[in-house]
Amino acid sequence: MTILTPSQRETLLSCADQFGTPTYVYFEETIVRQISTLKEHLSGLPLRLLYAMKANHAVPVMKTMLREGLGIDAVSPAELEYALQLGFPVDRVLFSANNMTDGEMHFATKRGVMLNVGELSRLESFGQAYPGSSVCVRLNGQVGAGHHEHVITAGDKSKFGIPVEQIDAIHDIANRYELTIVGLHQHIGSGIMDTETLWQAISVILDASVSFKDLRFINVGGGLGIPYRPDESSLDMSSFDRLIVEPLKQFIADHPSEDLSIWFEPGRFFTAQSGVLLAHVNTVKEGTVRTFAGTDSGMNHLVRPAMYGSYHHVVNLSNPDGPEKTYDVVGNICESSDFFAKDRAVAELREGDIIGVLDAGAYGMSMTTTYNMRSEPAEVWIESSGDIHLSRPRKSVDEMVADALGSH
Ligand SMILES: Cc1ncc(COP(=O)(O)O)c(C=O)c1O
Repeated sequence: MTILTPSQRETLLSCADQFGTPTYVYFEETIVRQISTLKEHLSGLPLRLLYAMKANHAVPVMKTMLREGLGIDAVSPAELEYALQLGFPVDRVLFSANNMTDGEMHFATKRGVMLNVGELSRLESFGQAYPGSSVCVRLNGQVGAGHHEHVITAGDKSKFGIPVEQIDAIHDIANRYELTIVGLHQHIGSGIMDTETLWQAISVILDASVSFKDLRFINVGGGLGIPYRPDESSLDMSSFDRLIVEPLKQFIADHPSEDLSIWFEPGRFFTAQSGVLLAHVNTVKEGTVRTFAGTDSGMNHLVRPAMYGSYHHVVNLSNPDGPEKTYDVVGNICESSDFFAKDRAVAELREGDIIGVLDAGAYGMSMTTTYNMRSEPAEVWIESSGDIHLSRPRKSVDEMVADALGSH
């Protein structure tokens, strides 16, 4: 769990003052730190880092990734187009749309972006449309992992990727259309907290890769977790060298392909700890058995607690030294799954206080909805220099209504 410094707490309070709530605030320095930590622990490998932009596609976040030399894992035409318009070079973008349509296949290919294909039928239609091309294939190596069953993206019951048992069929299609399989990909799940599991998954795709003679890269996906709870340890990156980097180096040395590089594509690891969701405490209500602190945000802005039962630490920014009391910290949405924390000790919450929901920089804003016709939160960017920018305003009631009315 992120521990805010006194100066970060002051900055967050001044953001709430200046821009109101609900507001997502992102600290650039945290993202830059996470990128360099990963680069450092994977050093020595022929490496490419992509950013899984589904985690957070705010413009300043994307620009930071671009500046740091990262590529992009894009999963929809809009993600892809947005990344290109922000200046990511086509050869640093991989298009991994799930259940891709013909239209999406042509959209990406016409822009020169490589496809990452997860179905045999799509490989077949790609071969028919673009014989002689290069392509990446997403495998399902049957090892899945993650913080919740909903985020496990490999294994017998997962819809993602082509099962490794069907590799012969991949070769058959590739041969018929003279496709060159230049990349293999897998992503086994999200929020993985131990290096052994990460390596286990990587080793499955490495084993599967032996029959692919023209590989230029193996993309081992994202999934690196971050600690959300106060008592949770971080991913042990001190063992990366021994458990991941050295075995990968050996694998590359032994593989028949020349110039093989290893790609990782994290989302959460880069951005989760950079983000704080600010909300205003509108009401404090004594129920019969619970005290409810009702805020002006909710599951429409951060769905992870409702969707996965995820823990996010909640701090009272405006009364940090208040005596701890136990609350259900809830939102203003008409659902009983609308909560940030249940039965949680927080420094006394009073009506008018500002809370910070921590580690909310990944799968927060990008999963926001306008349910109940409430606007998305504003977004604020804190540069490493300390400069503060409103990168995206909230919508007014008039704008929300105009959106809903459309052309009527
Ligand atoms: C294909 C793919 N790559 C990478 C990621 C990023 O995962 P994480 O944020 O856990 O690193 C995801 C997340 O769902 C994904 O689907």
